[in-house]
Amino acid sequence: MPLTTVHTVADLRATVAKWRADGLRVALVPTMGALHDGHISLTKLARTHADRVIVSVFVNPTQFGPNEDFSAYPRTLPNDQKLLDEAGVDLCFAPSVDEMYPDGFATKVHVDGAMTNVLCGAARPGHFDGVAQVVTKLLLQALPDCAIFGQKDYQQLMVIHRFCADLNIPVEVIGADIMREDDGLAMSSRNRYLTSREREIAPILNRVLTDITQKAATGANIGPLLAKGREAILSAGFDPIEYLEIRDAHTLDLVTQTVMKPARIFVAARLGKARLIDNQAIRPANIAG
Ligand code: PAJ
Repeated sequence: MPLTTVHTVADLRATVAKWRADGLRVALVPTMGALHDGHISLTKLARTHADRVIVSVFVNPTQFGPNEDFSAYPRTLPNDQKLLDEAGVDLCFAPSVDEMYPDGFATKVHVDGAMTNVLCGAARPGHFDGVAQVVTKLLLQALPDCAIFGQKDYQQLMVIHRFCADLNIPVEVIGADIMREDDGLAMSSRNRYLTSREREIAPILNRVLTDITQKAATGANIGPLLAKGREAILSAGFDPIEYLEIRDAHTLDLVTQTVMKPARIFVAARLGKARLIDNQAIRPANIAG
């Protein structure tokens, strides 16, 4: 079946209602478009969990700060539709800003707690409120059985798990692996902002994370590792580093000495016009998992 695109909540619901009447399972993959293989990998995972796959494409204004890249964010719907069609996705939901936030819209979703207020939550005030607002709306609009989110935005995935549980949203939230370019750079719509010189520099971010991960996993003291990592990132040309931190994989509490439990290393740094983020798992060598 070729891809169908709908632009209104009413059309989305009508399509989902037909599938439901046939007893089909439905998965939703929320995106902001400018799709790449990372997004496509989520649709493939969605397919293993459901009979029908919906991808939403919506650049959500409420999750961007006043000095962020909302206007510059790449909008490539015709190409996105082509990629989704090739990937065998059933439905693309591409609402306008007015459809999502009509005149008179007055409701906010506020997420809180230690896990929300660190990392990107500290660096981008209000960002996760905007994400929670739009993801809550998308989940209630489509009412899928499951929704897929990438670990590329690990903190976002944790925050979504949290508010779906807190608000009893009856959707299974599923995390997906990070897709990378051959040189290790995490795929991102924002990689399009990089000049060719910056694109050559960018993979250093992941090399630093991998190096620290390997040493931290065998019990090395993380203070000096992070200091050395910061130096390598800055001297490659990133400026500034927003954060380079190791945190508990489940609570996102800061780890300061050695890694004793499953943890994750997180980085956000600016390279030219692009703000790049990446993260990876640190599994201590002396424990399973
Ligand atoms: P966007 O940045 O378009 O990402 C959409 C989904 O794709 C997110 O779940 C993200 O984690 C995942 N993703 C992006 N790059 C990936 C990669 N290299 N490997 C695996 N997954 C990857 O995240 C958002 O949009 C928005 O905040 C959204 C959740 C849609 C709400 O507006």
